[in-house]
Amino acid sequence: MKTTRLLVSADRPEPGTISRAAAILKEGGIVAFPTETVYGLGADAFNTSAIQKVFEAKGRPSDNPLIVHIAELSYLDSLAVSIPVIGRTLANEFWPGPLTLVLQKTSEVPGTVTAGFDTVAVRMPHHPVALSLIRQVGRGVVAPSANTSGRPSPTTAQHVLDDLDGRIDAVLDAGPTLIGVESTVLDVTSVPPIILRKGGLPKEDIERVVGTVHTKPDTEVSPRSPGNRYRHYAPRARVILVAQGDSAALAKVLHESEGSMKKITCVLHSIPDPARSERVVVRRAPEAIEDFSRVLFEYLRECDKTGMEFIIVESVREEGLGAAVMDRLRRASAATSK
Ligand code: TXA
Ligand code: MG
Repeated sequence: MKTTRLLVSADRPEPGTISRAAAILKEGGIVAFPTETVYGLGADAFNTSAIQKVFEAKGRPSDNPLIVHIAELSYLDSLAVSIPVIGRTLANEFWPGPLTLVLQKTSEVPGTVTAGFDTVAVRMPHHPVALSLIRQVGRGVVAPSANTSGRPSPTTAQHVLDDLDGRIDAVLDAGPTLIGVESTVLDVTSVPPIILRKGGLPKEDIERVVGTVHTKPDTEVSPRSPGNRYRHYAPRARVILVAQGDSAALAKVLHESEGSMKKITCVLHSIPDPARSERVVVRRAPEAIEDFSRVLFEYLRECDKTGMEFIIVESVREEGLGAAVMDRLRRASAATSK
């Protein structure tokens, strides 16, 4: 299969280009497109064979359900039943935006989308390209992150092609995504609601609107958040986290690796630069957490491209978007520490 790269304006998507991509989706093809979080791999949410292609292209386990993306609240009618008031309130407040709501599904939603669960995850992305594409299709579009299963999510069309060139019909290329980590997944079928995956919408923002929500403990392997069972967000290099400001910990890791000749990248924001050498590269992480989250997956992918064996990352404060950034870094370090 040849993958077509369709260049498109992020702010004012050219209608002809969107129509081309929408036609592929309506015919049962699979097309990657940008959202405000990361690039997603789209398919018609009501076409079982198209959904199958998404799982195959990504190498995704079939028991990990997909998020259905919508362009209007009215699309919910065919997807979800008995939407709780809290769900409506959050949708009104944060959609379009980086929030995915887990709701009771209708019988119309194919079991392949929800991996047999009686719930469906839905979100309205905040990106002109995604919204006009979905509107052209005229109904829900499933879109997992457009990476090979287990790799860091793609924040550019090039990342998508690095993983999936030749395995998907097309990618809409509108440049890098804004947020850089995936959406927050919130189960509103529980009272109080439970954050199943930390993400682009901070918990603090949700609680400001609906009061206390719970967060699923990291250690809990719950059938409610199947995505967390899998090796995730992992670059090929080994990721090592050091505490914020802990220069001594950094020095120790660097010292221990001295004999090994391993290539190392350090991603630091407050720890001063260690001595650079042929094998130690230092990248200053952007000060603002919004800027760091935008480039995090890009950094991880770059380290793989340049053959790094270790990535040492200085931790950030776990508030606001920092909670999602630390979640991804911990998963990346757990997945590579064996
Ligand atoms: O920002 C995002 O959410 C991106 C963009 C493309 O929208 N999409 C994305 O999809 O990250 P994916 O498939 O990589 O992650 C979806 C997560 C997984 O952890 C999955 O287990 C969870 O959502 N999920 C989907 N349906 C669910 C359901 N019915 N119940 C619980 N968790 C669900
Ligand atoms: Mg994913």
